[in-house]
Amino acid sequence: MVGHLLLLLVVIIICYAPTSSTAAGGEVPFYEDCPSTADGTYAPNSTYQSNLAALAAELIENSTEYGSAAGSFGAAPDAVYGVALCRGDSKGPLCAGYLREAFDAAMNRTTSSRPLCELRRNVTLFYDRFQLRFADADFVSGYGNEPEWPLNNTNVVDAPVAGRFREHVAALLNATARDAAAQPDRYGTGDSWFQEGGSMVYALVQCTRDMDPGRCGACLQRIISEMPRMLDASQIGGRVLGVRCLLRYEMASNSFFHIDNRTLHLQKQPTPSLSLAEETILIGDHLGCMLSCAAKTWPIIVAVAGVAVCISCFFLFRELKRRRRRVRSELRRLSMAVQNVITLWRLEEGNSGFKLYDFSDIKDATNNFSSESLLGKGGFGSVYKGQMPSGPEVAAKRLAACSGQGLLEFKNEIQLVARLQHRNLVRLLGCCIEGDQEKILVYEYMPNKSLDVFIFESRGGITFSIVKLGVCRY
Ligand SMILES: *[C@@H]1O[C@H](CO)[C@@H](O)[C@H](O)[C@H]1NC(C)=O
Ligand SMILES: *[C@@H]1O[C@H](CO)[C@@H](O)[C@H](O)[C@H]1NC(C)=O
Ligand SMILES: *[C@@H]1O[C@H](CO)[C@@H](O)[C@H](O)[C@H]1NC(C)=O
Ligand SMILES: *[C@@H]1O[C@H](CO)[C@@H](O)[C@H](O)[C@H]1NC(C)=O
Ligand SMILES: *[C@@H]1O[C@H](CO)[C@@H](O)[C@H](O)[C@H]1NC(C)=O
Ligand SMILES: *[C@@H]1O[C@H](CO)[C@@H](O)[C@H](O)[C@H]1NC(C)=O
Ligand SMILES: *[C@@H]1O[C@H](CO)[C@@H](O)[C@H](O)[C@H]1NC(C)=O
Repeated sequence: MVGHLLLLLVVIIICYAPTSSTAAGGEVPFYEDCPSTADGTYAPNSTYQSNLAALAAELIENSTEYGSAAGSFGAAPDAVYGVALCRGDSKGPLCAGYLREAFDAAMNRTTSSRPLCELRRNVTLFYDRFQLRFADADFVSGYGNEPEWPLNNTNVVDAPVAGRFREHVAALLNATARDAAAQPDRYGTGDSWFQEGGSMVYALVQCTRDMDPGRCGACLQRIISEMPRMLDASQIGGRVLGVRCLLRYEMASNSFFHIDNRTLHLQKQPTPSLSLAEETILIGDHLGCMLSCAAKTWPIIVAVAGVAVCISCFFLFRELKRRRRRVRSELRRLSMAVQNVITLWRLEEGNSGFKLYDFSDIKDATNNFSSESLLGKGGFGSVYKGQMPSGPEVAAKRLAACSGQGLLEFKNEIQLVARLQHRNLVRLLGCCIEGDQEKILVYEYMPNKSLDVFIFESRGGITFSIVKLGVCRY
């Protein structure tokens, strides 16, 4: 408990310290574009600079209030055109501070951070939560998105799920973009559970609010469709930043934006169901409650006792419900942990002697789990003989389908079996996990050994049958 509080405190300090102590200073742009042609600068205290300062003040005020702003100030040849944007969940004084700092840096008037693009007439700066562009020619009325800048999150999803991931991200961005274009502030967020990766994917899109819905939708749709060209499509996260519209997605355990009542929830994370044993306990308790409640119909004395029982039943039931909720969240947490273990396995696969098999390989090896290759059936699934393409004959035990909770126990089981690897036992070569449903243990096939070996794992006095451990509870 104390440990948790301490952790929370550390997290709070880490999360809030930079924003509160340094306000705007120290923000480093992701992208900084200031073409340095000879005639690309203006003199200090020139008309261009005073026009720029006036436009900046207006852009800062409006984007702080509405999320973004676009406009111009002054007359040719000293007219300045500009666009500024605060991320939809970061409007207000904090963004105003950031933007002011960035404009000051670009006008070489900063005291707290390094100057940027010293007195350049054309400047583009993209930051995490805000961005700006100004220039000496009209780029505003054409709604052009240039310069556009992709930003990579270089972690990638596993190759087998990359295709599905791409579709998942595209569908999420599509929906989020459709929603954003219809909103007055042209800002939209969404999340969607990616089952194959066991993680949530978050998406954020935004246009400047002076674009009408059609224009905003088209701008977003274009950068979504061009994403595969700009980003490596199996990246777990990425951004395409532009002056007029931008997008970002991340596969992560926490959202990078503030979730509000407008955030779309496309696919919800399935809640792991309780095992039958736990359900039975709950139902049993409930039934006990109802039976004692039936006592109410008995004579008065019994009725009084009945009421007392009912009241305690009520509290018991509430407690059970609370416990059940706790179990659920614990399971969710643990299921993330299992994902990490799986990832670890994959990384260590090369030198552990324990392999994580692809479901499709096992399917092929066992001729799609055909009845010809069926060796036998045990309490917890069927065992098939298979010929792996790489050579060895294997016995694949396909565990009966079970819930997300089964995965956890599956992991424990495997770790136990792996630890107990023994000469007298059939060697466990690896396993295969596909989604929530398919769990397969792959053993070395030994023609001389009895089928029981594969089904019950009982040899040399050590019995660690899957039945006993209960990979799936029935
Ligand atoms: C500044 O930007 C405008 C609009 O994009 C362009 O027409 C102009 O040539 C640029 N000027 C310089 C000096 O780069
Ligand atoms: C620009 O104006 C400020 C005050 O208005 C003045 O302190 C500064 O010396 C001027 N700089 C130049 C280069 O004229
Ligand atoms: C700022 O907002 C005001 C009032 O809505 C509007 O008149 C003005 O044109 C806006 N300016 C810019 C640069 O967005
Ligand atoms: C910008 O400001 C720095 C000092 O902060 C100064 O050294 C530099 O000369 C200035 N650049 C221009 C182009 O005025
Ligand atoms: C996203 O929308 C575009 C255009 O409406 C469509 O061509 C594309 O198939 C959609 N992608 C997904 C994954 O829904
Ligand atoms: C992002 O990745 C793509 C594709 O791998 C690459 O072409 C691009 O240069 C990368 N961008 C950055 C900013 O690293
Ligand atoms: C969403 O929340 C805002 C306040 O944060 C509230 O003003 C608005 O009415 C809510 N919208 C819906 C649809 O609940």
